[in-house]
Amino acid sequence: MRRATTIAEVRATVRAWRRAGERVVFVPTMGNLHEGHMSLIAAAREHGERFVASIFVNPMQFGPNEDFAHYPRTPQRDAHMLRAAGCDLMFTPEVEQMYPNGMGHATRVEVPGLSDILCGEFRPGHFQGVTTVVAKLLHICEPDAAVFGEKDFQQLTLIRRMVSDLCMPVRIIAAPTVRAADGLAMSSRNQYLTDPERARAPALYRALRAAASRIEAGERAYEGIESEGLRALESEGLRVDYFAVRRAEDLGPPTPECRHLVVLTAAHLGKARLIDNVQVRL
Ligand code: PAJ
Repeated sequence: MRRATTIAEVRATVRAWRRAGERVVFVPTMGNLHEGHMSLIAAAREHGERFVASIFVNPMQFGPNEDFAHYPRTPQRDAHMLRAAGCDLMFTPEVEQMYPNGMGHATRVEVPGLSDILCGEFRPGHFQGVTTVVAKLLHICEPDAAVFGEKDFQQLTLIRRMVSDLCMPVRIIAAPTVRAADGLAMSSRNQYLTDPERARAPALYRALRAAASRIEAGERAYEGIESEGLRALESEGLRVDYFAVRRAEDLGPPTPECRHLVVLTAAHLGKARLIDNVQVRL
């Protein structure tokens, strides 16, 4: 596995592969890799001959009171895991490499509307930070395809939209959410949970599944389903940001003819803010 910390090294390496006719698949991450990330890497290998992973804790996507400083960083372990998974190139830029002119007045990429709902309502500026850094990373790596997890469903939706709006020549591949045996979606932020909190955390997936089952059974009174989900989580002691049934395609309100829905939630448990979602196909 090669390692690069500069944009020039990544470009030279990837361009040589592509000139040789090899397809390059890219997996952007913030590191502290877990099974969820590794499933993206396994998916990446199915779509090309070379794969590149980036590890960059992107300051632009963290709010002033969020966990940027404390976000878990485990670079050596990450490198071992990537090497063992057959990663060809690991890109670990410093902040100065990604934001050479500083962040304050840097050009930003924003998907209006989609960035402001659901998580965007509770984390102002977050998705602008995500789309900006992902656009930059895609320009740097110039991959044929890039893999994102359905765990961050709104992020995935935004990135698809950005790629379409900006005519970016990259295929976006979605990978299913990887969960612990009790249903909790794998996340670096699960480490913030104490043992008793960890025991309560599967309530998130249970509430999503319960909502999905009601929709699958034919119920269409989405507001009732949403308030029931909210109540279920609050009764477990979670502080809920939202519990919402949406159209999977664009996260708009579901219409009667819509056949693909997603139930999404975000809730605080102790120091952690957990997000999860379940898709429903009718
Ligand atoms: P990070 O949280 O490290 O996640 C990197 C990728 O792993 C994302 O596409 C995310 O959806 C996926 N992922 C995380 N947990 C998963 C799980 N349990 N199952 C499946 N996939 C999972 O998301 C980010 O980083 C950043 O916002 C980034 C896109 C790298 C931009 O900075």
